[in-house]
Amino acid sequence: MQVYILGIESSCDDTAAAVIENDEIRSNITARQEVHRLYGGVVPELASRAHQQNIIPVIDAAIKKANISKNQLSAVAFTQGPGLLGSLLVGISFAKSFAMGLGIPLIEVDHLQAHILAHFIRDEYSLKPPPSFPFLCLTVSGGHTQIVLVKNHFEMEIIGQTIDDAAGETFDKAAKIMGLPYPGGPMIDAFAKEGRADVFTFAKPNIPGLDFSFSGLKTSILYFLRDRLKEDPAFIENNKADLCASIQETIVSILMSKLKDAAKQTGITEVAIAGGVSANSLLRAKLLETEKTMHWNVFIPRLAYSTDNAAMIAMTGYFKFLKKDFADQSAAPYARIK
Ligand code: KG4
Ligand code: ZN
Repeated sequence: MQVYILGIESSCDDTAAAVIENDEIRSNITARQEVHRLYGGVVPELASRAHQQNIIPVIDAAIKKANISKNQLSAVAFTQGPGLLGSLLVGISFAKSFAMGLGIPLIEVDHLQAHILAHFIRDEYSLKPPPSFPFLCLTVSGGHTQIVLVKNHFEMEIIGQTIDDAAGETFDKAAKIMGLPYPGGPMIDAFAKEGRADVFTFAKPNIPGLDFSFSGLKTSILYFLRDRLKEDPAFIENNKADLCASIQETIVSILMSKLKDAAKQTGITEVAIAGGVSANSLLRAKLLETEKTMHWNVFIPRLAYSTDNAAMIAMTGYFKFLKKDFADQSAAPYARIK
C-alpha cells in the first residue's frame, strides 16, 4: 500500500513541509526566517508572523515537488511541541483545516522524537540500514540536550539530560558574546576549521551520572573574554579562529564523554546523534573516530535531517499512521518537553 504523509514543522524559526511515501522521502522544503538575525536570536512574535506568510507557499511547494496531488495524501502530520506556542499554532491550525478539508486523518508528532526517527528516512543518499533497537541517541539542539535509550519507534527513555542550558544554546551564546550572528553554532563550526583547539582551555563541568551542564562553561567564556578585552580590545578579532576551535572542542568533548559513559553503562554500541548540533563537523568526526576505537556502529543524519526539517515529522507521522494513532480537532500545542 502506498501511504503519503504530509509533514509540517513550525516549532521555532523554520517553516517546513515534506511529503513521504511510506519511508521514502519525496520532498523536503524549508523556508528559513532571516528576520531574527537582526536581533541575535529568535523573536517569538516575528517567528509566528513569518510562519503565517510562509506556510502556504512551503506546503504547496512540498506537494508539487513530490509530484502528487493533494487528494493522494493519506494523512497530515504536524509538530505538536515542544516549541514556541505561537509558531506551533500556525502549523497546527493549518494542519487541522487541511486534514478536515481533505477528509483525512491528523497526526500529532513530538519534535524530539521526530529528530530521532529521522534516522529511519530512506532517500537516494541512504547508505546503510537504520539503527537496530535498542540504540542510544544523543539529541542535541538549540533547546535540548539528551541521551535517549531508544527501545522501539515509540518507547524512548531519557537516561541523561542537561540540568540547565542546551548544547546548541551554548554554541549560540558563545557566538553572541564574540559578536557573531545568530545562529552561532554553524559560525563557530566554520571559524573553528581555521583555528587550533588547544590554545584556550575552559573548565568542564563535573556533573554526576549521564546529565550535562553548560551554564558554567557559558559564564567562564563570558568572564574570560571580558578580562582579555580589558587588556586588548582586539582580542576576539585577533583570536577568533582559535577561540571558536577551543570552545567547540570543549562542548564536543563534554558531549562525547557522557555518550561514552552511556554506552559503557548500557552495553549498547549502536549509537546515533540527532538535532541541530549533530550538524557539527567536530562532533561528527569524533563519533566516527569512536566508531573505530570502541567498535560502535554509528548513525549520523544527513545535514538536511539534522537541523529542523519536516521530513522527520512526515517519517514519524508514517509510523503513527501504521498504528492508527490519530489526533482530532481538539489537538493543542505544548511548549515544554513531555
Ligand atoms: O534542531 P535545531 O535545528 O532546532 C531546535 O530544535 O532547537 O537546532 C538548532 C541549533 C542551534 O543552536 C544551532 O546553533 C545549532 O543547532 N547548530 C550547530 C550547527 N548547526 C546548527 N551547532 C554547532 N555546529 C553546527 N554546525
Ligand atoms: Zn529541532
